[in-house]
Formats: sequence, C-alpha cells, structure tokens
Amino acid sequence: MQTLEITRPDDWHVHLRDGAELAAVAGHTARRFARAIVMPNLLPPVTTTAQAAAYRDRIRAALPPSSEFEPLMTLYLTDRTTPEEIARAGASGIVHAVKLYPAGATTHSDAGVTAIERTQAVLETMAATGLVLSVHGEVTAAQVDVFDREVAFIDSVLAPLIERLPDLRIVFEHITTRAAVDFVLAAPVTVAATITPQHLLLNRNALFAGGLRPHHYCLPVLKRERDREALVGAATGGSPKFFLGTDSAPHAEAAKLADCGCAGCYTAVAALELYAEVFEDAGALARLEGFASWFGADFYRLPRNRERLTLVREPWRIPPWLPLGGGRLIPLRADTTCRWRLA
Ligand code: NCD
Ligand code: ZN
Repeated sequence: MQTLEITRPDDWHVHLRDGAELAAVAGHTARRFARAIVMPNLLPPVTTTAQAAAYRDRIRAALPPSSEFEPLMTLYLTDRTTPEEIARAGASGIVHAVKLYPAGATTHSDAGVTAIERTQAVLETMAATGLVLSVHGEVTAAQVDVFDREVAFIDSVLAPLIERLPDLRIVFEHITTRAAVDFVLAAPVTVAATITPQHLLLNRNALFAGGLRPHHYCLPVLKRERDREALVGAATGGSPKFFLGTDSAPHAEAAKLADCGCAGCYTAVAALELYAEVFEDAGALARLEGFASWFGADFYRLPRNRERLTLVREPWRIPPWLPLGGGRLIPLRADTTCRWRLA
C-alpha cells in the first residue's frame, strides 16, 4: 500500500466558530493540523487581543486534553482599530495576523473596513511589529460583477497597498483566479497566498451541476476551469508563495439550504486528504509537504513542525453529514470516496 509521510501540516486559514459549533468542528482540524490561523469573524468579531486570548482559551477547552493543537489567533480589522491595540497584539505572542474584510464582502463582515485608507496608521504599526495582514481580496461595490471582484481588488486595493507599505507582509487569502496567481508570483517576497481545496477541485460549473448546489457555494465564488488549472499549477509548482489554507467554514445545513443561503464549504473533516488527491492528479505528491507543512510556517516566521504525519492511499467514505449543535453539517464531497486517508 502506498504511503506518504510528511511534516505535520498547518492550516493557515480556518473558521472554527464558537460554542457548540466550535465543539463539533475543532477536533477535525486538530486531528490533521498542528496549528491553524483562526479567523476572527465571530459575532461580535474578535477585535481586541483580550478577546483573542479568551477565544483561544475556548478553542483549547473544546479539544481533548491530550491535543497539542495550537490556535494561532487573528484580530478583525475595523475602521476603529487603533495602533495601540495592534501594538498589544504584536507583543502578545498569541496574535499572528490581522484580517482585512472589506465591509460586506462575506459571512459576518459587516464590521469590516469601509475604506482601506482609514487604516494606514494601523497598517504601519503592523509592518513595524511584524504582524501579518490577512486579506479577503474582493471589492464589494454592487456594480462590480461577482466573478470579477477578486481581479478588481488586485488593481484597486492590493497593488497600491503593497506600494504604500513595502514592509508589510500580506497573505492574499483563498485566491481563486489565474490573475491572482500571476499577481502573487510577480509581487515582492512580502506577498503570499493561500489556496483552498474547493478552488483546486472544482470550477464554477459545480455550482450548477444538474441543479443548484449550495454546498459548493463559498466566497470568493468558484471561478472558471482555466482559473482552477492555474491554482493547481501554483499549489503544486513548488513556489513558497503558495500554501495551504482550507477556509473550512461550517454552516448548519438549514443555513445553507435557505432563501438566502450562507457562503462556505466545510472541508476540515477531509482537508489534507483532498489536497493529496489534487497533488496526486497533478503528479506532484512530492511537493505536498512544502505546500502543506513548510511554506506557511516560513512566511509567518514560525518554526516548522517537528512531528510527522502519514497519509495512506486507501479509499474511505467522507461522511454524508456531521452533527453541528442541534443540526447537521454537510461536508464538501459528502458521501463520496476519498482516495487518501490519515494513517
Ligand atoms: C467564510 C465564513 O463562512 O465565515 N465563508 C466563505 O465562504 N469562505 C467567510 C470567508 O472566509 O469569506
Ligand atoms: Zn475564510
């Protein structure tokens, strides 16, 4: 039987939620990943170091006592975030990034930034303290086509931001387009990107395959096949600018199957295994370790994990659903076979 042993990976973008939902999902991430950058888009959002510390405690309490999983915390950037709060976060040792959500871009982003210029002093403090800016890269203007929002963001926000703050390290999260791949490759070394399993596995046809497919709806929305191909090339190509970030985002089934269904794909229960399929199909299994276990740690200036993890090429069935509080959670690729499993 074929096996693949790698350095234990990290997830550089995950939504763990809170309360009963946190308790239901945290173990899936902790089983696969040593560490994860935990997104701050709770209700209300995590905007202070004190809130991040309390959230970190709740995450650790939701895990089995034997778990050594380390949550890497983030702050949610708002128009009112102060340089003093950023300095506190930088000195805390537990906050590793600050997340920029353009207001209205995605789930729980109402408190997000209305104009990036307003955050200049805060971003300068981040550059000075070494905190990473984690970016949801979509414009929100109603006149911009949903499928063009990432490309519009590159031109109107990201490129000028990089010029203005050459020392600020920026992660362009969950990139979805060929244009984003090309942009990141050409950008300075301060700029990197995460790539999700769903954007590597699916193109936008999957949203409409035989009918409307709400479990394939996430933000940024899936793009064209040529975009997916570019993302696979980036992830499997060995460049340290691209690393693993699942964007695993649990929503109860009832919230997905609604008049106005929530955006988010739940992948944590099979994330590394799905990436392994992508790398195998690209003939690049030898490069999975860099993408999953090395490049993100290097970019965040954290030590690579010492522990190892083994994947086995043996089919298993991804569950049709998982319990989530009182409801159900439908994972990506629910009730289908995955070719790789954890040893
Ligand atoms: C995320 C969520 O549900 O919190 N949803 C998503 O579609 N990715 C928010 C986000 O990362 O955009
Ligand atoms: Zn996300």
